[in-house]
Order: sequence, then C-alpha cells, then structure tokens
Amino acid sequence: MSDESRPTPAQTPVAAVIPAAGRGVRLGPGAPKALRALNGTPMLIHAIRALAASRHVSLVIVVAPPEGAAEVKSLLDAHALPERTDFLVVPGGESRQESVRLGLEALPPRYGIVLVHDAARPLVPVDTVDAVIEAVRDGAPAVVPALPLADTVKEVEPAAVAGDPEPVVATPERSRLRAVQTPQGFDRETLVRAHESVTENVTDDAGMVEQLGVPVVAVPGHEEAFKVTRPLDLVLAEAVLARRRLNDGF
Ligand code: C5P
Repeated sequence: MSDESRPTPAQTPVAAVIPAAGRGVRLGPGAPKALRALNGTPMLIHAIRALAASRHVSLVIVVAPPEGAAEVKSLLDAHALPERTDFLVVPGGESRQESVRLGLEALPPRYGIVLVHDAARPLVPVDTVDAVIEAVRDGAPAVVPALPLADTVKEVEPAAVAGDPEPVVATPERSRLRAVQTPQGFDRETLVRAHESVTENVTDDAGMVEQLGVPVVAVPGHEEAFKVTRPLDLVLAEAVLARRRLNDGF
C-alpha cells in the first residue's frame, strides 16, 4: 500500500473477534455458555451488541462452537443488530487460543486494528471499548482494560487433590496487580504474529504479545465488564441489566 492510500490511525478500520466456542462447564450443565440467556437474550447477543455499540467497530467476527456455527448464524438473524456493522460467523477450536486464531484467519485485509472480546463478558460498557480503541490508535500495539484488585492475592503450590490445603509461596504487592478484562485491542500485525509464533497455552491474547517482547499497556477497565463464569455471575449480570433498564427509564 502506498503512503497516500494508507489510512491514518484515526481511519484504520476496527474489527472485533468474539471467541464464543467455550462450553462453560463452571457454569453448570446446559447449553454452551455463550448461548445461555440473560434476561431472555443469549449472552453472545449481549456481547455482540456491546462491541457493535462502538461506532468505530465495523466488523464483528463471532467464533462459534465447532458444531454450532449454523445455530449461531440463525441467532444473529433473529436478533436486532446495528445495520452499520458487518457480521461473520466461523467455527471455533479446542482452546480459546485456537478459536481466536481461527477468527483472525477470517479477518479481511483492510482491518488494521483488532479487538478480542470474550462472549462471556456480555455487559462491557461502550466507553471501555472506545478507550481501548483510542489507546491502539494513539500508537500502543497492545492494550488491555484492567482493574485494581479488592482481594490480596497469594501464589500457592497447587494441591494434587482439589480442596486439600495448599502451601502459600508468595504474596505479590497488591497495589501493583491488576485484573485484566476484555476487549483487548491490538495492532493487527502484532496479534497475528503472536498467534503464529507463541504455541504454549495462555489465558489472554496480550500474554502472547508480551512473549514477543512487544509492550502491552493497561487502561482503566470497568466493573460491568466482569466475566460470567459461575452461577452467581448470572445473577449479578441480570441485576446489572435490571439497573440499566431502570436508569434508561423503561
Ligand atoms: O473458559 P474461558 O473463561 O477461558 O473462556 C473465555 C472465552 O473464550 C469465552 O467467551 C469462551 O466461549 C471462549 N472459548 C472459545 N473456544 C474455546 C474455549 C473458550 O472460544 N475452545
């Protein structure tokens, strides 16, 4: 691409990849986590709407459970979504990492900035999404939304049998720790390179970029961007939705 035709950072098209192929066993038995309902609407639809609410995001790629791509496509057809956003559905893989990589393979060339957002964080506010995009546009190759911790964190020697006492080996200084959320935002080339070269399992995409030696920065996250993991998180998510409805005057 010549310098004249290259988009300026403010024009670089932004796409979001939403890995939604996990089973969500910690949530109890039932449908794949992303397809479970919150106030009658699947968690995945909430997550897609949360990302598409940003006027900067023009494509959302949903990575569906491997056997569930057709079901996810019909879900998207059945729910109102912004018309200015394009949507693609691709089948996912065995791990979150593989699911994100499959999503990246479907990304058309013109998208220079990529967000990766867990379907399991259905309530992330649009301001958090925009803050991540802005930091990437300002030149950071990798950006994570993050919050300080309320709990003190201990590093332990994990017990062989769940529930057995575990020796504590360290107490990291809490004020230096952050709990990291999604969407994480990346310069596309950096994220693709990370997925090509890092093979060991990591729990977030920014961790792979760190392994390349590329700097990652944290911007303020939001308490409503929590991950729905355990049954109590469903109760909390529905309470947040109820509060939003009250505040919106419905
Ligand atoms: O299980 P965990 O909390 O790490 O899942 C985070 C996100 O990754 C969820 O949105 C889940 O659907 C997704 N995932 C995936 N493919 C997998 C496993 C998890 O897309 N094989």
